[in-house]
Amino acid sequence: MRLLAEFIVRRARFDDLGKVIEINRKCLPENYPEWFFRDHLVNWGEAFLVAEVNGEVVGYVMCRVEFGLGITVKGLVRRGHVISLAVLPEHRRKGIATALMKEALKALKEKYGCKEVYLEVRVSNLPAIRLYEKLGFKRVKVIPMYYADGEDAYLMARSLEDFSSFRSFTHDLRL
Ligand SMILES: CC(C)(COP(=O)(O)OP(=O)(O)OC[C@H]1O[C@@H](n2cnc3c(N)ncnc32)[C@H](O)[C@@H]1OP(=O)(O)O)[C@@H](O)C(=O)NCCC(=O)NCCS
Repeated sequence: MRLLAEFIVRRARFDDLGKVIEINRKCLPENYPEWFFRDHLVNWGEAFLVAEVNGEVVGYVMCRVEFGLGITVKGLVRRGHVISLAVLPEHRRKGIATALMKEALKALKEKYGCKEVYLEVRVSNLPAIRLYEKLGFKRVKVIPMYYADGEDAYLMARSLEDFSSFRSFTHDLRL
């Protein structure tokens, strides 16, 4: 384990799920049952990561892998889908979400062979949109009424063919 500034990023474990669910409920209106998180951990655990500060989980990213028509690349491809990302309010603007996303993108590319990654984000969620744009995602289209409350989503995507994480945390993760 290596301390990276004030936090570390590592793979999620089953005993993290309670805290992950708590963060999800605190930070996002899109909440899921426990089995949904467990299913992602079982099936795509390399791309389900948490950030820890002083031994406490303060953020997570959860992804899945799908097979379908490429959005940014041609043909049928393996695609990463970022399902949920959140960082506790008191730990924001420290680069934690950036680190979580970079590690997730790296895992999607290197462990699962994904050619691209995509996600949905509320059109009003400027902090998240800025974060994703900084990470090279582009707005592909608007999905009308995507959310339960009727808000539209942007579909954002990025090719992983040109993605190389210039700074890897992986060797230092506690697996
Ligand atoms: C979006 C979220 C995950 C960002 O987490 P974070 O750890 O604060 O993000 P980072 O520190 O890595 O920020 C990276 C960049 O994103 C942008 N950003 C993040 N928060 C921002 C804000 N409140 N306002 C404007 N830009 C913001 C900035 O460009 C920032 O870079 P900077 O700090 O150098 O200016 C966090 O705000 C959150 O959990 N929000 C609630 C849940 C959510 O919206 N999840 C995404 C659903 S699609």
